[in-house]
Amino acid sequence: MPATVVVGTQWGDEGKGKFTDLLAGDMSMVVRYQGGHNAGHTLVVAGESFALQLVPSGVLYEHVTPVIGNGVVVDPRVLIAEMDMLESRGVSTERLRLSGNAHLILPYHQELDALYERHLGKNKLGTTKRGIGPAYADRSMRVGLRAQDLLDPRIFRKKLGAVLEHTNKVLTRVFNRLPVDADEIATEYLDVCAPRLTPHIADAVALVHSELDAGHNILMEGAQATFLDLDHGTYPFVTSSNPVAGGACTGAGIGPRDINRVIGIAKAYVTRVGSGPFPTELFDEVGDHLVEVGQEYGTNTGRRRRPGWLDAVMLRYAARVNSLSELAITKLDILDGLETVKVCVAYEAEGERHDQLPYHQSVLHKSTPVYEELPGWKTDLSEVTERSQLPAEAEDYLQFIEEQAGVPVGMVGVGPARRQVFNFNA
Ligand code: GDP
Ligand code: IMO
Ligand code: MG
Repeated sequence: MPATVVVGTQWGDEGKGKFTDLLAGDMSMVVRYQGGHNAGHTLVVAGESFALQLVPSGVLYEHVTPVIGNGVVVDPRVLIAEMDMLESRGVSTERLRLSGNAHLILPYHQELDALYERHLGKNKLGTTKRGIGPAYADRSMRVGLRAQDLLDPRIFRKKLGAVLEHTNKVLTRVFNRLPVDADEIATEYLDVCAPRLTPHIADAVALVHSELDAGHNILMEGAQATFLDLDHGTYPFVTSSNPVAGGACTGAGIGPRDINRVIGIAKAYVTRVGSGPFPTELFDEVGDHLVEVGQEYGTNTGRRRRPGWLDAVMLRYAARVNSLSELAITKLDILDGLETVKVCVAYEAEGERHDQLPYHQSVLHKSTPVYEELPGWKTDLSEVTERSQLPAEAEDYLQFIEEQAGVPVGMVGVGPARRQVFNFNA
């Protein structure tokens, strides 16, 4: 059986974790394919909330094998802390597998992330300061350490020594900081982290393909989102990996023909954390409503998320670059009670209308939204369990999204809990 991909269509925090958890009920394996602990995926199951950063969202099911693919950058300390958190709450992490090819985030990556941000001053990207960019940079420079290096102390020390020769020069000569101590890092990671992670380190490509060969359903869980994609997002205000559906191929070792379903997760409005262009951003009381009612504060860093109206230009682009088969709309309930709801159907920049995302970044920066305004609904949607229960205005809003994005809407979320979802095209 082929794989299904869950991908964010905006700037992250669309509810990928919730939908991955939901879909994982019918899957034998869930694979994270990129990103690291910059992600924060919240699941609410039987009244309990779980905030996951690295462990794939299928972990709550006993029948699911959660796999961290080669495309992920892993901070071993964070992974162990997350496993401890899950175990302490009665969730077994025994089945968790970590690709031996996944790159490691080590303490100097985190330090460099903060230093580069400080260096950028007012032009900072607003990263999560988790060391994501520097770890992927080391991977590209071919000096990174991988999970498999934890299995061989000699290789670990050798590679660490080599990379620190350069990195310590950057820390001391460029940033005027103290050098990091290779022995100290090696001791902690080899004596504390390696024994704990060794039973989980595996050939993830072989695991994924044995599931596919056995005819089982597998799910690929994206982190971040299309507009944070290194190639397709609002560069340079992006993350350092490829969250788009194609990233599932490189980040987990499958081919395009192994994928038969791509579910784009879209919030019923838009949020963004960190810097960068955001044409439909709201600075008024409607924005405050979205943030307060939608509890738009980062799972990960606690930062207030920037709010805005839904942007159909973004959805059209996301549909293209991910080959979306359907959209899952989340947080529709947060729009309850608004007089009207707006959807951006095109941009205007320097007197020109853009129905598709302008490829040149400076045009995007100058773009103002062309809105269509639709009537809102006064009903509480949180208990809706089927399409027929929707007020006409919410039905029209979802149909309008389908028309504008050119992609059918499948599932719709009306609350954080696993059960708060209904099918729009059953
Ligand atoms: P992710 O990073 O894409 O997994 O999303 P986050 O977990 O960072 O943010 C989404 C937030 O919205 C979480 O707190 C979820 O529990 C919550 N959530 C998801 N779907 C819905 C929904 O349909 N309605 C409401 N009210 N909350 C939702
Ligand atoms: P999930 O998976 C929202 C943003 C950061 C910053 C930019 C680069 O929960 O949707 P990085 O630390 O990756 O170098 O930061 O990307 N960012 C996210 N925003 N949700 C996320 O993950 C994010 N991961 C990174 O705020 O603007
Ligand atoms: Mg999140």
